[in-house]
Order: sequence, then C-alpha cells, then structure tokens
Amino acid sequence: MDKRIVLLPGDGIGQEVMKGACQVLNAVAERYNHSFSFDTQKIGGEAIDSEGTPLPEETVAACHNADAVLLGAVGGPQWDQNPPHLRPEKGLLGIRKELGLFANLRPVKGFKNLLDASPLKEEVVENSDLLIVRELTGGLYFGEPSGRSADGETVVDTLAYSRSEIERIVEKAFESAQVRHKRLTSVDKANVLASSQLWREVVEEKKASYPDVSVEHMLVDAAAMKLITQPGYFDVIVTENMFGDILSDEASVLTGSLGMLPSASVRADGVGLYEPVHGSAPDIAGHNKANPLAMILSAAMMLKHSFDMNEEAQEVETAVREVVEAGYHTSDLDVKDGVSIGTTEMTKKVVEHISSQDATHNIMRCYA
Ligand code: IPM
Ligand code: MG
Repeated sequence: MDKRIVLLPGDGIGQEVMKGACQVLNAVAERYNHSFSFDTQKIGGEAIDSEGTPLPEETVAACHNADAVLLGAVGGPQWDQNPPHLRPEKGLLGIRKELGLFANLRPVKGFKNLLDASPLKEEVVENSDLLIVRELTGGLYFGEPSGRSADGETVVDTLAYSRSEIERIVEKAFESAQVRHKRLTSVDKANVLASSQLWREVVEEKKASYPDVSVEHMLVDAAAMKLITQPGYFDVIVTENMFGDILSDEASVLTGSLGMLPSASVRADGVGLYEPVHGSAPDIAGHNKANPLAMILSAAMMLKHSFDMNEEAQEVETAVREVVEAGYHTSDLDVKDGVSIGTTEMTKKVVEHISSQDATHNIMRCYA
C-alpha cells in the first residue's frame, strides 16, 4: 500500500524522536511490502524562526494532501515570551482545527518492569489500562468570545459546544469502548456547567445504540481523585477538551512512563495526526537521551487508525514491549534494574526486532 505521511518534527527532542519513528516505519514498509513516502514540514518554534508563523500555509496544504501526519513536539523557552499568535502551541492547535481532528485518543498502559518508576504504589497502578477520549476542536479552547478587553482589565473564555460536536465524540468513545473492556465513564461538571448538562443528555441518548457498553457519569473533580486512588477502575473516559487536557496529563504519569505514551487525533474518515504525549524537553534535546518509544508507538497508532494495518501496528507494539521487557530503557525512566541506552540505540533495538522477523514472515507468506 502507498501512503503519504507528513512529518512535523517541530522543536526540541521532536527532531530526534521523529527520526526513530521513520526508521521503524521503513522497517515495517520493507517487511510488509508497503511504500511510505515522507514529506517533512515545519511547525511550532522552528516555523516561527524561519517563516514568522507557527503554522505556515505550506504545512497546512501538505497536511491536507496527506494520508496521515506525525508530529514530534512543539515549544521551548525561547518562545515563551512571544505574543499569543506567535507561540509554538498555536501551530499545534491550528493544525488540529484545520484538519478537523475532533477526537484525541490517549491510551495509558503500564509496562510491568517499569512500574517502580511510578509515583504510586505498584499495587495501585499495576492493573491500569485506560483510554482517554478527549474532545479536541471545541470547548473552552476555541469558544468565542475569548480574549482581553481593550483596557486589559477584563478577560473572557467561552466553553461552547453544539449538540453535533458532542454527539460525534461520544460516538467515537462508545466505539472505542466496544473494542476494549466495554466500560465508558463520561466525565463532566454537570452540577455547575450548562455545557456538561447537554453532554450528559447526549451520552444518555446515545447509550441505547451501544447496549454492550456500560456507561456512567462522573464529575471531573471526582474523576481526578479516582485516577490516582484507583486507576485500574477505568476503561474508557470521554470528556471535554480542557478537562481531557488536564486528566490526560494526570493519567500519563501514573505508570511512570510518560516517555512511552502515544496519542492520536483523528476524524471520522481515518485521517489523523499522531504525536507523543510528552513535550519538547529542550533540556535534553540533541543529547541522544530522548525516549523515542512514544513517537514510535504513535506511528503504530497511525498504522492502525489511519491505514488499517492492524498486524503491522501490533508488530511495532510487540517489538517495543519486548525490547522494554528485555530490560532496555532510556534515561528518562528511573527504574532500578535494566540497561540505560540512548535514543539511537533504542530505535535500533526496535528496528532490529521488526527486521529480524523477516525471514519467518516471508516463509509464512510463501506457504500462505
Ligand atoms: C496537549 C498539549 C496542548 C493542549 C498544548 C501544547 C496546546 O498540552 O496536547 O495536551 O493543551 O492541547
Ligand atoms: Mg496537555
């Protein structure tokens, strides 16, 4: 299969981890006889520096023509004082909105031998395996009016949703629950917010179409507590943009392996943007220290969600898991045992794992 992939490495460690993902995708292409073409474009701080905007038109046009987009990370201290329209994050928010990527999927699952890097007791986190489905193109991030009054003394942000915006994300969450453990928790603040009251109504209406999924509603403050006291309780969480932003960062540190967590931002037709949950980590950029596994696992999510290449995605996930279980990790992980290796070495281990299956795979194909 031929697929066009736009690469947006962005800032900081984005460049290094993106290299890792490409090498892994090349290994997948070779093994499974696919052809992936890569088109690298600018976003975030590097685009501000060279083009004067965090999201150049050329980048937007390339993404519109792509089958999927991979993004490294955006941001860094050198742009922190920039005015709002010249901040790297604007590039990320802009491309999500431009492409209409309304569903952000953030799976959190621990690796057994990394659990001692978790800030929680091992027995609390060991069974965590959850997916946050965050609404990504509406809510508090994009509602109008927003901004500051002329005298600078008053500010406003608006949490707005239409029924159809809620419906499509809730449907996505029910579908996700159907292929997991069939438990959906809808998180809101319905005791206070009108937007949450409509959210609840929609979830209640939709549940009849997914009788195999059990649903409950939970207030966002209670959900924040439950995530750290009993993370194993959750299967799929669906929630508004800002709540999802906060809860997904909370969830991402549960298992102690933030550097391993991928995410997908998708729309109904399968086009998607895939990025690690971690940021640009400017302090370690360029030192071959970054953990490439979140980016590599994001590429695996792309294979699955955008290209329907389930076997290939599974292969990448297995390679990552086996390399980690063999005791290799990058220095971001504070684990007692194992061997600490660099970005390029970690990438190489995963690539070798995928390529080494070549011979067996070909034999199987000959007999198939
Ligand atoms: C995320 C990030 C972004 C967000 C920022 C960088 C705008 O925190 O992807 O979670 O809030 O969506
Ligand atoms: Mg965030």
